[in-house]
Formats: sequence, C-alpha cells, structure tokens
Amino acid sequence: MFDLDQLLRPNIKNLVPYSSARDEFKGEASVFLDANENSLGSPLTKWYNRYPDPLQWQVKEKLQEIKGVSKNQIFLGNGSDECIDVLIRAVCEPGIDNILICPPTYGMYEVSSAINNVIVKKVPLTPAFQLDLPAIESAIDDNTKLIFLCSPNNPTGNSLVKDDVEALLNNYFGLVVIDEAYINFSRYRSFAQELKDYPNLIVMQTLSKAWGLAALRVGMAFASEEIVAIMNKIKPPYNISQASQELALQALGEVEQVNEMIREIVKQRSVLESQLKSLKQVLHIFPSDANFLLVKVRNPRATYEALLNQGIVVRDRSKVELCEGCLRITVGTAAENEQLIAALQGFAD
Ligand SMILES: Cc1ncc(COP(=O)(O)O)c(C=O)c1O
Repeated sequence: MFDLDQLLRPNIKNLVPYSSARDEFKGEASVFLDANENSLGSPLTKWYNRYPDPLQWQVKEKLQEIKGVSKNQIFLGNGSDECIDVLIRAVCEPGIDNILICPPTYGMYEVSSAINNVIVKKVPLTPAFQLDLPAIESAIDDNTKLIFLCSPNNPTGNSLVKDDVEALLNNYFGLVVIDEAYINFSRYRSFAQELKDYPNLIVMQTLSKAWGLAALRVGMAFASEEIVAIMNKIKPPYNISQASQELALQALGEVEQVNEMIREIVKQRSVLESQLKSLKQVLHIFPSDANFLLVKVRNPRATYEALLNQGIVVRDRSKVELCEGCLRITVGTAAENEQLIAALQGFAD
C-alpha cells in the first residue's frame, strides 16, 4: 500500500518549516513593519518592495479554473525543475535511496539526483520508446522512492501508453511523477484528472512550453493535498517572484490566444515533418506529440554544424542511447521552419 508517511525522509516529516512574515500576518493593514522590506519603495515605476505571496493563491485560483484541479492540490515551483528537486529531497535519503528513470528522457531528473547524492536506476525505454515494464519491475527495490516518467517524452516526442503508466501507478507504492511539460501539443489527455484514483501520482506541467513563458520560471505539480503540503514545506518561502506571479496571472487570462498558438505549432509540426521527409539526408522522423521532432539524419554532426553556419541551432542528440544519429528540432515559426528547410536543402551531405 502507498503510505506517504512511511515514504518521507524522517527529517522532512519532522521539519518545522520557515515561517515568513507573510505567513504570520495575512490580514489587511496599512503599515507593514514586519518583514524588513524597504518602506520607501523601489527604483521602478511600479514598486516591488514587498515580498510576494509565498503560496501564490491568485495564480492557483486561476489554474484551478483552467486545469480542473483544486487549488490545494497545486504546487508551484521555480520552473518544473524546482518541483523535480523538491520531490527528490522529500523522499530520497542521500546515498541510500534511489529514483528510477527511463532514458532517453529529460536530463534534469538525473542531474537533480546527482546534486542530492541520490542513486539513479536507469531502465531504458524499449526501441519503440515505451516503458519496459518487466525490466522496471525487476529494477525496483525497497529503496526506490520515486519514478519519473515523461509523457510526451523529451527527446523522443512520443506519449507513453496509458495502460503501462496505470500498471505502474497500481502496482508500485512509491511516488510516480508524470512530467507533462509537452501535454498541450499531444493527442492524449493529461493524467491531471486522475489524481483521485492514485494517491502516489504527481503530474507536472509548466508555463515554459505552450504558454510561451519560459523566462518567468513557473512550473506546476498537481498531486494530493498531503503531497502538496510536503512540497510547500520544503520549498524556499518566496520561490515565485511577484513579477512572475503577476505576469503568469495575466497570461492565464488569455487561454484562447494560447490555444491559437498551440494549433499553429501543431500545424507547423506536420508541415515541417512533410518537408523534412523529402530531404535526402533525412532517414527517419519519429512521430511527435510535442513541439519538436526527433529526426534521424545520415550525418548528424555535419548537419548540426552546417545549420549552425547558417545561424540555426538545433539540439544534437546523436550520442544519446536509442537516439543515435538524431537531431532534435523545435518547431519554429513558419518562416523559421522554411529557413531550416532551405539550409538543409543547400547542404549536400
Ligand atoms: C520534459 C521536461 N520537463 C521539464 C522541463 C523544464 O521545465 P521548466 O522550464 O518548467 O523548468 C523541460 C524543459 O525542456 C522538459 O523538456
């Protein structure tokens, strides 16, 4: 059975979190002399002299409307990267516990574990980029506290088979994180509506991709209230700046504009795919549910360099296990994609 109390590191379970000035006083007042801020103001037209809401309630209320997840089941991080780090620190005892990942996948799960001196067990995806459930089952041990799944996966672009993910959620009693950074570009539904069925599920999303707000650094984790409460206990008190909270709130009011961008990116993804297919150096394009394409080319390094010479930068993933020979290409604007295709046409491999 899943038992959060048993899974938590004892120091986290017993942690008395920092109590900030904004935690201790929440009412209306006219004179704030409690937080050692600069009462004179800021050297800006708009003042930012006051600490922001540590729990970002206004943003969460808006997210509750959009995502259909209760505001008490939302954690906001300084990018999803902070959510990853907080989760590892919640349950993994350095040098003793481990996490499980399925490469090729997003690099920060491993880096965050390394920073925290947490062991990483790697069970590669199958050649079809799906979960290898028997291998995962035999890799899990009593110290495996957390599994990171990424769907749609970076860098492969595909979604994981839902039944496989559910098999893990049902049979493994550590935390299961599904990183849905690219969910808005996918044909498949988010797992966010299934939190009530799985107390060990954490769904991560971000404002960095479809929402076009990578610079604001706002990542989301949806989970049970108990898990969210633990994450809030661990995070730095003011992890999302006032400027980020204000701009995120403003952007969250523009759902239709974002949907329009998503439709355009998905359309450009298929235009780009069909144009790339016609190029002689392109050997294979993997199906994508994300805003990028994983493209196998005859000579990846030379292709990468040739593009760079034209001022176009893509990601060389050719040395990554199961992605041999591949470049990862983000879908750009129609004009950028045409520029990319023209550069590739001019490059005689
Ligand atoms: C799968 C995945 N998760 C998370 C992130 C990082 O998200 P954030 O910008 O919210 O930290 C990325 C960024 O590339 C990603 O590919």
